[in-house]
Amino acid sequence: MSTLVQPKVRIRALGKVFEHSTAPHPALDGIDLDIADGEFVTLVGASGCGKSTLLRILAGLEHHSSGELLCDGHPVRGPGADRAMVFQHYSLYPWLSVIDNIKFSRRLKANRGELTSADVEAASGRADALLSLIGLEKFARAWPRQLSGGMQQRVAIARALMGRPAVLLMDEPFGALDAQSREVMHDLILHIHRVERTTIVFVTHDVEEAIYLGQRVVVMQPRPGRIQQIVPVPLPAQRHQDMKHTPEFRALKAEILARIKASAGMETDADLLERLNAVQATA
Ligand SMILES: Nc1ncnc2c1ncn2[C@@H]1O[C@H](COP(=O)(O)OP(=O)(O)OP(=O)(O)O)[C@@H](O)[C@H]1O
Ligand SMILES: [Mg+2]
Repeated sequence: MSTLVQPKVRIRALGKVFEHSTAPHPALDGIDLDIADGEFVTLVGASGCGKSTLLRILAGLEHHSSGELLCDGHPVRGPGADRAMVFQHYSLYPWLSVIDNIKFSRRLKANRGELTSADVEAASGRADALLSLIGLEKFARAWPRQLSGGMQQRVAIARALMGRPAVLLMDEPFGALDAQSREVMHDLILHIHRVERTTIVFVTHDVEEAIYLGQRVVVMQPRPGRIQQIVPVPLPAQRHQDMKHTPEFRALKAEILARIKASAGMETDADLLERLNAVQATA
């Protein structure tokens, strides 16, 4: 008899309706998804298909209107230390050094008197280990403003990992970085995933990024936001940049892009750009 393994995250028939002043706006409908412990799942889809909404619901920052959402078998009713979120805009505290930014959540607990001195010592060790994991040992005492965007985002990731969350939720975390920094971040987040064994749910606009990072790519479609398809990524667990140039990778990318485009039922950013160029050419 096979043993049933409980997924880390279980989403069943999940729906979200925003109550606009004019009319209710269904943002998500019938979302079914199980995410295994330690899995790296990426979400892609046209703008407005509900990727951020789904992630915010997973984080407990937003409530779902219907259906079920369980993390480790428990209903998600709000934010919790088992889930941490990293946003596109690295929200570091400018008045705290890099290491103090990483330790921030522990500091709050210490202020509330919830930590013993042994806890504080363990937290220091953890913060140092994370600093080395993100390759910024030499910047422990630097201020956020002294770091590049990519470095700041690395600190934001370390800060999110500080409390050893079971699930790391990332909403276009590398969207503001240049192409080269993104590549570095891709390999870094894969390394972090291997070392920390955290379950990662990662939202992106970039299909190449979604395939390179994900073990499965969840393709969503809009109006209302639904899952169109879940695509297993047939790449070896150990990824390297050259894989992006293989015919298999390119074919998968083209297939997912075509799906997003077809499901959007409206112009994708690429279409819009093409149309604007055409208008400019005739002006
Ligand atoms: N707080 C809110 N109140 C009302 N409507 C909202 C709210 N947040 C999102 N929506 C609507 O829900 C839908 C999904 O938005 P969401 O931001 O989740 O999409 P997305 O897939 O993350 O888009 P993008 O790729 O542009 O970031 C959109 O139609 C949006 O206008
Ligand atoms: Mg979004």
